[in-house]
Amino acid sequence: MISIKSRREFAKMQKAGACVADVHRRVREAAAPGVSLLELEEIGASTIAEHGCTSSFLNYLGTYPATLCLSPNDVIVHGIPNEYRLQEGDILSVDAGAIFEGFHGDAAFTMPIGEVSAEAQHLIDTTEAGMWAGIREVRKGNRLGDIGAAVAAIGDAHGYGVVEEYVGHGIGREMHEEPQVPNYGEPGKGLKLKTGMALCIEPMFNIGQRFTKVDADGWTVRTNDGSLSAHWEHMVAITPDGPMVFTAAQDPVPVDEVHATQ
Ligand code: MF3
Ligand code: CO
Repeated sequence: MISIKSRREFAKMQKAGACVADVHRRVREAAAPGVSLLELEEIGASTIAEHGCTSSFLNYLGTYPATLCLSPNDVIVHGIPNEYRLQEGDILSVDAGAIFEGFHGDAAFTMPIGEVSAEAQHLIDTTEAGMWAGIREVRKGNRLGDIGAAVAAIGDAHGYGVVEEYVGHGIGREMHEEPQVPNYGEPGKGLKLKTGMALCIEPMFNIGQRFTKVDADGWTVRTNDGSLSAHWEHMVAITPDGPMVFTAAQDPVPVDEVHATQ
């Protein structure tokens, strides 16, 4: 079932999204060489509480043990915060989800730790560009295939492995709702987008091949070839006033303005 949100419900998702954006801001400020992933987890947990929200991730499926997913280097997604201390030259993906009055917000970004290689920075920037290309396709009347095709075109153009096993998703009262939003597709194909839908657009690009493996902890997803991976995600709502990015840095950003700024 694809949930259709009212203005009132979208207002709650906007609050959840603003909380997630604040978590991002604070983790980005703190992340540096020598800082441990557990210290960043603490910042995530306290920021979510300050906003009167709860974590979408903690105890997800009865087993996820943390508030954030922190995924360094070859970890694609779902890295569990641990004692690892960040090192100069690492890249780190930060994923956060928050619930406000029963509605979820979910978003991720990847950042350099200190000075990183030009290759690593290019991966980060291109994955972000892939996300924005997908976001620009989120509008009433477009189809799911338009989103996936736009994302994949960016990854393919740079020779990156575009991960297929993990996908974007609908969001609302649940973090993961229908439809799945793959980072591949055919323009003009698939589900037609309607007002009231909210989608998380979340490409994962690898410097090497697209293939993945999961650690013995059952969560940590890595590139099969050990190459670096980046992950970016925003939650986009198709509101009666048009599509809006609800997890943007400050206030919601109309998707129409993304054309000009990204
Ligand atoms: N935020 C991830 C997503 O974008 C899911 C996190 S998995 C969890 O779909 F276990 F941490 F919740
Ligand atoms: Co998501």
